[in-house]
Amino acid sequence: MKVFDDEKDLLMDHEYDGIRELDNHMPVWWLWLFYFTIVWGIGYMVYYYMLGGPTQEELYEQEMAAAAEQYGLEPEGDGSEAEVSDFTWAFLEDQSRIEEGREIYMSNGNLCYTCHGANGEGIVGPNITDDLWIHGCSAEEIASSIIEGYPDRGMIAYGSGARLSDEQVQSLVSYIASIQGTEPANAKAPIDRAVPCSLE
Ligand code: HEC
Repeated sequence: MKVFDDEKDLLMDHEYDGIRELDNHMPVWWLWLFYFTIVWGIGYMVYYYMLGGPTQEELYEQEMAAAAEQYGLEPEGDGSEAEVSDFTWAFLEDQSRIEEGREIYMSNGNLCYTCHGANGEGIVGPNITDDLWIHGCSAEEIASSIIEGYPDRGMIAYGSGARLSDEQVQSLVSYIASIQGTEPANAKAPIDRAVPCSLE
C-alpha cells in the first residue's frame, strides 16, 4: 500500500485486508458541537434537577391551562368537573324536544347509538329501553349518566366528550323516556348490577 510522506506520522499500526487507518484529528466544528452538548447537558441537569425547573407534567398542565384560557374552555380537572347543574330535570312530552333528543342520540357528534344501539337495545352499553337500570332512572339520574359518563366502563362524558347544553341533555333524557318498554329486537341481556327502576 502506498503511504504518502506526510501521512507516516498519522498511520495507525493495524491493517486489515490491506486497509489501514490514519489517526486524523476530529474536525474542529464537530468537537465544538460535542463540547456544546456537554455544556448543555450540565445546564439542563442543574436547571431541571437542582434548581427546580418545571417537570414535564407541570409544563403539560401549564399548556393545557393556557389553551383552556385561549379557547374559553373549562380548565381540565380530574374528570369530575362535569356536574349536573341545578337545572330542573324532567321527562318532557313535547314531540319536538323528543325528536331533537333522538337526533342527538343518533348523531355522530355524541355517538349514543353506537354503544346503546339505534333502538336503545344495547350493544357495548346497556339496554336503555327496559326497566332495569344500573345508575337509577329518574330524569336527574339519567341526565347525570349522560353528563358525567362512566369513563372507567367505556362511556365518556356526553358519550363522545362533545359537550351538550342542559337543554339538549333534557331533550335526550326525554327521548330515552319515550322509548321505554318498546322491546327492541336483539335486546342486550341485563347485567347483574342493573336493578328494577321504573321511569314513571
Ligand atoms: C363508547 C360507548 C358508549 C357511548 C358512546 C355512550 N354510552 Fe352510555 N353507557 C355505556 C356503558 C358501557 C354504560 C354502562 C356503565 C356501567 O356499566 O356502569 C353506559 C351507561 C349509560 C346510561 C346509564 C344506564 C343505566 O342502566 O343506568 C345511560 C342513561 C347512557 N349510558 C346514555 C347514553 C347516551 C344518551 C349517550 C350519548 C350521549 C351514551 N350513553 C353514549 C357506553 C356508552
